[in-house]
Amino acid sequence: MSEQGFFTEATSAEVVISRNAKAKDARLAEVMAILTRHLHAAVKEIEPTEAEWFAAIQFLTATGHMCTDWRQEYILLSDVLGVSMLVDAINNRKPSGASESTVLGPFHVTDAPELPMGADICLDQKGEPMLVRGVIRSTDGTPLAGAKIDVWQANDEGFYDVQQKGIQPDFNLRGVFRTGPDGSYWFKAVKPKFYPIPDDGPVGKLLAALGRHPYRPAHLHYIVEAPAHGRLVTHIFDPDDPYIGSDAVFGVKESLLAKFDQITDPGEIAQAGFDRPFFRVDHDFVLAPA
Ligand code: BEZ
Ligand code: FE
Repeated sequence: MSEQGFFTEATSAEVVISRNAKAKDARLAEVMAILTRHLHAAVKEIEPTEAEWFAAIQFLTATGHMCTDWRQEYILLSDVLGVSMLVDAINNRKPSGASESTVLGPFHVTDAPELPMGADICLDQKGEPMLVRGVIRSTDGTPLAGAKIDVWQANDEGFYDVQQKGIQPDFNLRGVFRTGPDGSYWFKAVKPKFYPIPDDGPVGKLLAALGRHPYRPAHLHYIVEAPAHGRLVTHIFDPDDPYIGSDAVFGVKESLLAKFDQITDPGEIAQAGFDRPFFRVDHDFVLAPA
């Protein structure tokens, strides 16, 4: 007989946990014990029919089948369950005053071009012009020279370049910038638009069944790095976006709402180097010392 006796409905979790007692890795044993306890408690509370349990297995199977080298349906599942943001929060607790993080998302590329400060990352002249400016500082207020700012965003129709190969130029709306001695950065782009997370798979079906939309409010992605400071993976959001209060992946934080000011003054338009009204977005970032 096992250490805990035979399996019964009442003792199910403890019987399974005790069977794992010889696990070689203590962390694995801890994680499996917690998962087993919570999973058995959930099953006891739900009391699924066998058909319902099989539907759950089929959902997970379809989620696996949807995965390829470039489509990770399990990450999307984690995203829409709020688990990606929870893991992000646990691993990126910042000291007071430091900028907050949010999810990386699947559309970052590691080989975006390094551009001169002020460059226009919009390579196809489509959309409403935008000037983004700010300063990278340390938590003590010192401007950070030599900070690397990696930015990427969707276009005015809500698509990233990697989703529209042959339609958008490669590396459209992406760039890497490095700050000078005053820690400031600025670049030109176009006002991004809200877009749906990939919703043609099981996760999209789940959202629809739950009466949820798949949209993320318009945002710009940033990875900010500076010598002797912690890396910041974050976004800034358009606060006026229709989906700002219901991001499909829960990535919005109050501190990440930027200001998108529409500039119509001809002098300011000329000074910024545009030929028509533009949006000006000012957003500083504060990095915590490593
Ligand atoms: C994104 O913002 O690029 C993203 C994040 C999570 C899921 C899908 C897209
Ligand atoms: Fe995004």
